[in-house]
Amino acid sequence: MIRQICVGLVLTLLINIETLCLNPPQDVRIVRSNLQWKRPADDDDSVLYSLQYKPGHNTGDEWYSVTSHNGTQLRFQITPEFYGAVFRVRAEQGINVSEWQYSDSVNCANANFCVPLLKLSVKPEMVLVTMAHMDESLEKEDGEHVEFNLSYWKVNNGGYLKPESVITKSKNEPIFQLESGQKYCFQVQYLLYEKPYGNVSNQICAIIPETPETIKSRHLLFSIFASFLVTAMCGVCIFLLFKHHKKAKQLLQPLRLEIPHHYQEFFRSGEFPLQACPSGSSQSLRSYDMITVIECSNLKQKGQEEEQETTIST
Ligand SMILES: *[C@@H]1O[C@H](CO)[C@@H](O)[C@H](O)[C@H]1NC(C)=O
Ligand SMILES: *[C@@H]1O[C@H](CO)[C@@H](O)[C@H](O)[C@H]1NC(C)=O
Ligand SMILES: *[C@@H]1O[C@H](CO)[C@@H](O)[C@H](O)[C@H]1NC(C)=O
Ligand SMILES: *[C@@H]1O[C@H](CO)[C@@H](O)[C@H](O)[C@H]1NC(C)=O
Repeated sequence: MIRQICVGLVLTLLINIETLCLNPPQDVRIVRSNLQWKRPADDDDSVLYSLQYKPGHNTGDEWYSVTSHNGTQLRFQITPEFYGAVFRVRAEQGINVSEWQYSDSVNCANANFCVPLLKLSVKPEMVLVTMAHMDESLEKEDGEHVEFNLSYWKVNNGGYLKPESVITKSKNEPIFQLESGQKYCFQVQYLLYEKPYGNVSNQICAIIPETPETIKSRHLLFSIFASFLVTAMCGVCIFLLFKHHKKAKQLLQPLRLEIPHHYQEFFRSGEFPLQACPSGSSQSLRSYDMITVIECSNLKQKGQEEEQETTIST
């Protein structure tokens, strides 16, 4: 019983604690990178403004207080982490509050920190730069007046060379005539009505590959050089040999083998099993005999045949 009364009391307290009797802030909108609003006509300076936001990816009804904001200021600087979020503001004075007033969600057209998304596809001696919008709001609002300021430069031994800029409306921009084997860096910024808008993108760097033809010709050059080098070295060697052939002869002579004395004795004493070596002399003789035998019989046969022929003819 007591608990129920308590709960009821707390509930009425909660409902009564905030009375919606203040006028809400006026004209809540995002201009460049600021959320701003106006005081209602009949308000005094002691009114505070409370600010909350709902992140862009959040589909529920959860709102978070913007911690840095509880004050009499009529603006709030939106930082890039609030991209896509929706804000709401209300006036507060003690227990009296106003209704919430909502802003549009933060997009590129109303916040000045967007960067085009940059992607490189690297090919021999060229790069195809692809740029995309973070959202379509800029194109929708400013259409023709949205451009990309694409800059790129060669990185040479850790130093930078002067950047080159390409201003384009196209989302696919090919950059030709880049040096093979060199590192190039790219970055991009929006131009709105020919003036820089939003932040500069991060740099993306790439090493430009060589064309198959240059690789082939380099290999060819290398093999020509290598064969030239080999020929030249051979020529030098032959020349040196020719010029100093006596010395070379001496050098190339086999070393005179000095057989130690006890080895010589060992060989002479006949203990070295020379007889164990198979002597093919008898075998070869035998085979030779066979051949002679065959030859003889052949000859005999031939002779007989010839004799027979002569007897037939006669
Ligand atoms: C800021 O405003 C909220 C109301 O949204 C209030 O609950 C909170 O106490 C205030 N914070 C400060 C520091 O005044
Ligand atoms: C809140 O509003 C009521 C009536 O509108 C007023 O009487 C009261 O003084 C207000 N409280 C504060 C703290 O301003
Ligand atoms: C484009 O970017 C380059 C490098 O950041 C800069 O020097 C140049 O002034 C920019 N061009 C325009 C029209 O803003
Ligand atoms: C965008 O540029 C502003 C200054 O113009 C800088 O303060 C801010 O940190 C930059 N934001 C990002 C995400 O680079």
